[in-house]
Amino acid sequence: MRKPIIAGNWKMNNTASQGVALVKAIAPLVTEANCDVVVCVPAIDIPAVSEALKGTNIKLGAENVHFAEKGAYTGEISAAMLLEYGVEYVIIGHSERRQYFAETDETVNKRTLTALNAGLTPIVCIGESLEERETGKTEEVLATQIHEGLKNIEDITKIVIAYEPVWAIGTGKTATAEQANETIGFIRKTIGEMFCPNCAAKLRIQYGGSMNAGNCKELMAMEEIDGGLIGGASLKAPDFAAIVNFDK
Ligand code: 13P
Repeated sequence: MRKPIIAGNWKMNNTASQGVALVKAIAPLVTEANCDVVVCVPAIDIPAVSEALKGTNIKLGAENVHFAEKGAYTGEISAAMLLEYGVEYVIIGHSERRQYFAETDETVNKRTLTALNAGLTPIVCIGESLEERETGKTEEVLATQIHEGLKNIEDITKIVIAYEPVWAIGTGKTATAEQANETIGFIRKTIGEMFCPNCAAKLRIQYGGSMNAGNCKELMAMEEIDGGLIGGASLKAPDFAAIVNFDK
């Protein structure tokens, strides 16, 4: 059995004080959660949010990590910096990073290996664009992202994958539950061939892209979907809590 994981990705939203207020509002609503609950927050919010999460069942995540241990990488954040504040998860290779910040499968791979070595759980994002889906390239694109982004990983079960079709992010267009299930099934099969079928069966794969309180039950009912990476709906306590409590 794979334990579901619902993670918020705040992106570039919430100052530290706004973030503290948000997690204080979420915490009492999710005490009965049967899934792993994570908030991935802007780096500068981490110290305050980390403090506010003490004594709750919500885990802390970052939105990126650099691949080097330390050094001349102005503006970047290292794994050690995250660990000092109790960060357990880190999003890697989000499509916005790939689109606006020149992230590639190669840098995704380096960041993922560094995060794993440090004991962080990477949430590695993959997904196709609208043009790629419409021209029938979805599987080819995902296979490349998997083969290049996940190479040399010793224990693939230690990561989480987020399948986020780029056309569904922030657009209000969700992949249908069947579409998401089928594509995640393909991702699992590809990982099974690359690593081992047993490991793929244990690996948690989330769906992300306009997931909300209204559509989460249907998505989460799908066999292959083990959770969600939530953008917009993670910024409102009742909405995020409703997704976390999808099984109630
Ligand atoms: P939305 O939920 O706002 O579509 O964002 C999804 C996402 O990019 C999560 O990482």
